Amino acid sequence: SKDWNGIDQVVLRSPQGASVKVSLHGGQVTSWRNEQGEELLFTSSKAIFKPPKAMRGGIPICFPQFGNCGSLEQHGFARNKIWMIDDNPPPLNPNDSNGKSFIDLLLKPSEDDLKCWPHSFEFRLRVSLSTDGDLTLISRIRNVNGKPFTFSFAYHTYLLVSDISEVRIEGLETLDYLDNLCQRERFTEQGDAITFESEVDRVYLSSPNAIAILDHEKKRTYVIRKDGLPDTVVWNPWEKKSKSMVDFGDEEYKQMLCVDGAAIEKPISLKPGEEWTGRLQLSVVPSSFCSEN
Ligand code: BG6
Repeated sequence: SKDWNGIDQVVLRSPQGASVKVSLHGGQVTSWRNEQGEELLFTSSKAIFKPPKAMRGGIPICFPQFGNCGSLEQHGFARNKIWMIDDNPPPLNPNDSNGKSFIDLLLKPSEDDLKCWPHSFEFRLRVSLSTDGDLTLISRIRNVNGKPFTFSFAYHTYLLVSDISEVRIEGLETLDYLDNLCQRERFTEQGDAITFESEVDRVYLSSPNAIAILDHEKKRTYVIRKDGLPDTVVWNPWEKKSKSMVDFGDEEYKQMLCVDGAAIEKPISLKPGEEWTGRLQLSVVPSSFCSEN
């Protein structure tokens, strides 16, 4: 299908009716629905579906830079590029192929990209939907250059929640984090699960490979499993910052929470010919099921 600007979007469907939409603009997942057809990712009502900025919502890819610590535009250029579909992708891993539908998108640097980031790479993004509705993103980034390069990376995942003040994150307690609101100063998380009552913009370091986001009101828990992605970004703009973003409604911070699997503190380094893989799997389960475990 096409989005509002005529840019191609690919839709994956499970036999039970779950679905995922991926836009060639940014290789960005723009929708993920469960078997009941309920949307699980946040998209702003003011989102601008138009290059050269990433649409506000879904899962923009931050590469080769996260944030604005570096010479590139905020969160790097990958989210603003038009990706290509690989019509002849390598097959799924046979141990992991059971009924999955998938698409492979490719990004290679343009002449302009090479001017601001002089490193030849090949980025293969595989988006897959399992029969039980799990969404998996696998990024494979290869150095096809004669010289080593480094990068940082994040799956900037906008989860849709019913009320941010009823949400908590489990799996990040007691970790160290860099606080983007205080010149990236390092702190240690105290106490229990993370809850929200003001702006949060943090990079949790060396986080576990599974993190749960409990939405009390919806009785729904998102589970994020990640591989190759040591850090976890947690972001909610809250009231004041929401008002300063043109493509975000003033009250919408109540319905979203970004939890990103990421590699930020220690940039990934690739020698010529080397490849890096970063994997993110999202699932959603009823909360009653979780609290019994
Ligand atoms: C978060 C950053 O991940 O992304 C925030 O930590 C930033 O500082 C937010 O405001 C949104 O960024 P952008 O460029 O998509 O508006």
